Amino acid sequence: MARHLVTSALPYINGIKHLGNMVGSMLPADVYSRYLRQRGHDVLYICATDEHGTPAELAARAAGLPVAEFCAQAHDAQKAVYDGFQLAFDHFGRSSSPQNTEITQHFARRLHENGFIEERAVRQVYSPADGRFLPDRYVEGTCPHCAYDKARGDQCENCTRVLDPTDLLDPRSAISGSTALEVRETTHLFLLQSRLQQEVEAWVALHEEQWPQLSSSIARKWLTEGLHDRAITRDLEWGVPVPADTWPQLAADGKVFYVWFDAPIAYIAATKEWSDAAGDGGTRDWRSWWYEADDTVRYTQFMAKDNVPFHTVMFPATELGVREPWKKADVVKGFNWLTYYGGKFSTSQKRGVFTDAALETLPADYWRYFLIANAPESDDSSFTWEHFAATVNKDLADTLGNFVNRVLSFSRKRFGDTVPAGNAAGAAEARLGEETARLLAEYEEHMEALRFRRAGAALRALWSAGNSYLEEKSPWLEIRTDPEGAALTLRTAMNLIHLYAIVSEPFVPASAAAMRGAFALESDTPTWVTPGQAASLDAVPAGTPFTVPPVLFAKISQEDLESFRERFGGGGA
Ligand code: 2FM
Ligand code: ZN
Repeated sequence: MARHLVTSALPYINGIKHLGNMVGSMLPADVYSRYLRQRGHDVLYICATDEHGTPAELAARAAGLPVAEFCAQAHDAQKAVYDGFQLAFDHFGRSSSPQNTEITQHFARRLHENGFIEERAVRQVYSPADGRFLPDRYVEGTCPHCAYDKARGDQCENCTRVLDPTDLLDPRSAISGSTALEVRETTHLFLLQSRLQQEVEAWVALHEEQWPQLSSSIARKWLTEGLHDRAITRDLEWGVPVPADTWPQLAADGKVFYVWFDAPIAYIAATKEWSDAAGDGGTRDWRSWWYEADDTVRYTQFMAKDNVPFHTVMFPATELGVREPWKKADVVKGFNWLTYYGGKFSTSQKRGVFTDAALETLPADYWRYFLIANAPESDDSSFTWEHFAATVNKDLADTLGNFVNRVLSFSRKRFGDTVPAGNAAGAAEARLGEETARLLAEYEEHMEALRFRRAGAALRALWSAGNSYLEEKSPWLEIRTDPEGAALTLRTAMNLIHLYAIVSEPFVPASAAAMRGAFALESDTPTWVTPGQAASLDAVPAGTPFTVPPVLFAKISQEDLESFRERFGGGGA
């Protein structure tokens, strides 16, 4: 048993997230955490809302609310959606917590003591039309590297290069669109990342072998460009204040830390929130996960590719510069983009499927399965309603759901409410057992290696193996000439259902619970089944009472499909 710390990129507070955000961070982290828990590991899955920065301020202004109130409401709204998706966080915290203020300020002081922070006068973009300094991401323009014309002043999302607002060609205010921008002088704190370049390189070299190619190639690209010193403070009202004990003047000027400085630290702070929430001063030891954590703690981070530079290079630089034994990531699992009909999900243009609307349309398991089975791992992947409907109908309704219902209904009709005994297992069952064991081992291997698409394919193959067996034995024909043989087939198939309930749980937890609940076993405690145990297909003995659950997955009809396309703006991308 190992201790697994799992975090997913913290969703920005403003706005409900779309399916692309879900599949690139929280959902795979949840699937992985569930799997590890089932395997008996000690798992801590932490996430939080990322609440600071200009987007939060602007969204609050648009909502006509004080920013603290806006964030509190928006946090609860996001949490409700994640509950609906059955994301089993150990804690879903907030980057605006007092815990994060404390730990972020501590990090800054330590970095300062160690000579990695310095005050610099900078010339910053000021927008007279907006009456304010413009934070980096609120200056838009053309990327000097790839000519993308909607690059933001902090990063170009097209080529992922990190930028400075003054690098942009034809800059404009993203708030008002004004191009009448001025540059004025002000003082900010700079993190001297250039002094940490070699240490970060050494750290990456030591770890990248365990990362997917996507993450290490982004880290390498970033390191090759060289680590630049970065301003880590901003002129905003909302954020972690610069500590007055260390920088009295900047504190008096109302400077706060840059959102990307405090957000990753919030992984730690949210763990402390989790500890503090126990209120008993000891049962939940956040430090044992983060500070001087021993080798048994394995830390896996989940995120989309635009976040990878911050997690493979910038946050490690911060952690290294603090010169204290804070836990660093062992594995950085990055994802490509999920597109909507090949284009971008867009909140403003109401294109794409947002997580709240998804849950209003269909149960969480449909989304969870589709998204993970099509996770954008080796490349971007595209969401289309046609693909979604075909996947749900074929994999979930026909292959898994229909199997479960058909087997249980038929057995009840012919043999009553308990699992029938029938003959002893024969050659067909032995073959099925071997195939099941082989596919389960494959599934485990992909899950351990965080290859979710391939894990999904192995899971689907497990479900298909049951269908092939059922077709081969055809108990509805068998029963006419060999009732004992038909009983064996049904008992075996019911054992498969029980196995599917266990191994499908990370993907489709609600349906898995319904499948498992169908059997009134005297003791049903195992959380996992080894391939060896799976091969014998005998966990559910003859005589076990069972019930037939309601249809697990409803098919998506052509009419449904059309109404979804219409409602969500499919197609014409
Ligand atoms: O890109 C984003 O959505 C950010 N809110 C991710 C932050 S992850 C972290 F480091 F906190
Ligand atoms: Zn670019």
